[in-house]
Amino acid sequence: MGIEFRKETFRDDFTFRNSEKAIRRFPFPFDKDAYMYAVNIEPHTAGPEGSVYEHPIDVDEHYVSEMADRALVLKEDPLRCQSLPHMTLAGWDLLELLMVSKATSYPEHFELHRDGDQWRWINRPLGIDDRFTFGDLATLPYGPMEYITRQSQGDFCILDQRDGNLWMDAGIVTTQADWSLDFDIGMNFFEWHGPVPLAHELGVFERALKFMLNLRQGSPVRRLNWTMTINPRLDTSPENYHKWGPDRTTITPENVGNKLHLRVELQSFFRLPRSNAIVFPIRCYLIKLEELVTIPKWGRRLHRVLQSLPPELVDYKGLSRYRDTAIAWLSQYDDGAPTSPGG
Ligand code: HEM
Repeated sequence: MGIEFRKETFRDDFTFRNSEKAIRRFPFPFDKDAYMYAVNIEPHTAGPEGSVYEHPIDVDEHYVSEMADRALVLKEDPLRCQSLPHMTLAGWDLLELLMVSKATSYPEHFELHRDGDQWRWINRPLGIDDRFTFGDLATLPYGPMEYITRQSQGDFCILDQRDGNLWMDAGIVTTQADWSLDFDIGMNFFEWHGPVPLAHELGVFERALKFMLNLRQGSPVRRLNWTMTINPRLDTSPENYHKWGPDRTTITPENVGNKLHLRVELQSFFRLPRSNAIVFPIRCYLIKLEELVTIPKWGRRLHRVLQSLPPELVDYKGLSRYRDTAIAWLSQYDDGAPTSPGG
C-alpha cells in the first residue's frame, strides 16, 4: 500500500503531527540512560519492514509537505543551495542515487526509465514527469543536485575528498539545527565541526574523519544525532534565528508537552561513483513530547538523558532555557524502573 501524505505546515500555524504509525517508527536515538558524543557509526543496512531503515532513502507521510516548506525557504533565500563549480559531476551522481533508490523502494510513487543517457523521471506525489539527458545541464530546470533534492526530504551536503580531508563544496540545507551552509561552504571536516564542544578533545572527529575517508561505494554508513526544537519548525537556521530563537523563552509547564519536540537526524554517508565525493543526507524527524511519551520506555529514558546531560551539551544544543521544565514534565512518566541497554 502506498504512503498517505499529510497536508501540514512547519511554520505559522504548525499543523505538523505524527500518525500512530509515524510515532512507532520514530528513530529514538538513545540506547542508554545517559548521552555523550561518540563515533556512533554503523553500516547503513536494511532494517525491519516499516522502520526508517527499511530503505536506503526513507520517504514518509511528511514528504509532500516538507518539500513545500523547502520551496518556501529557497524562494526567500536562494543561498541555502550552493554548489561550487567542480561539484557538478557529484550532483549527477546524487541525482542517480536518489532516483534509483526511490524508484526501487517506492515503485508506486516513483518511476525511473533509462535508455542510455535518455532518462524519464516520474514523481507522482509531486506531480512531476520529466525527460532529460543524464549529464546535460541544459535539459533540467535546475542543476542536478538542486533538481533532485527539491524532491527529497532532509538536507544534503556533498563533500569533496582531497588532501586527506573532506570539504563541504556543495549542499542544500533548509532544515538544519542552527548551522549555515552559506557560512560553512568550502570548509573542511575540522573547520565546520569547530563549534562542537568536547568532541574534539575526545578524538571523536579525528577517528570519524579517518572512517569517512575510507568509505567505500556500495557500503553506506549511518549515525543518529539529536537536539530539541520548539514547535515543529524545520527551518531553524542562523539566518532565521530572529524568527525561532525567541520561542525558547515561551515554554511553560502547561505547553511543554505540545510545543517541545525531540529532533532526530538520521545521517547517512554514501560514496558516489563518478566523482568519488561523499554525500551526507541529514534527514530530520520531529516528535512532540506528548507523542513521544506514548511509548513509555522513551519517556522514561529521555527524562534520564536530559537530567544527566553534560552542561556543555545543554548549552551547545540550546536547551538551557527550558530543560528544567522538560525534566519536570517528563518526571511523571519515569517510574524509576531500570531500563535495558538498547531498549
Ligand atoms: C555537528 C556537518 C560527519 C559528529 C555538525 C555540524 C555540522 C556537521 C555542520 C554543526 C556544527 C555547528 O554547530 O556549526 C557534518 C558533515 C559531515 C559530518 C557535513 C559529513 C562528513 C560527522 C561524523 C560524526 C559527526 C562522521 C561522527 C562522530 C558531529 C557531532 C556534532 C556535529 C557530535 C554535534 C551535534 C550536536 O550536538 O547537535 N556536523 N558532520 N559529524 N557533528 Fe558532524
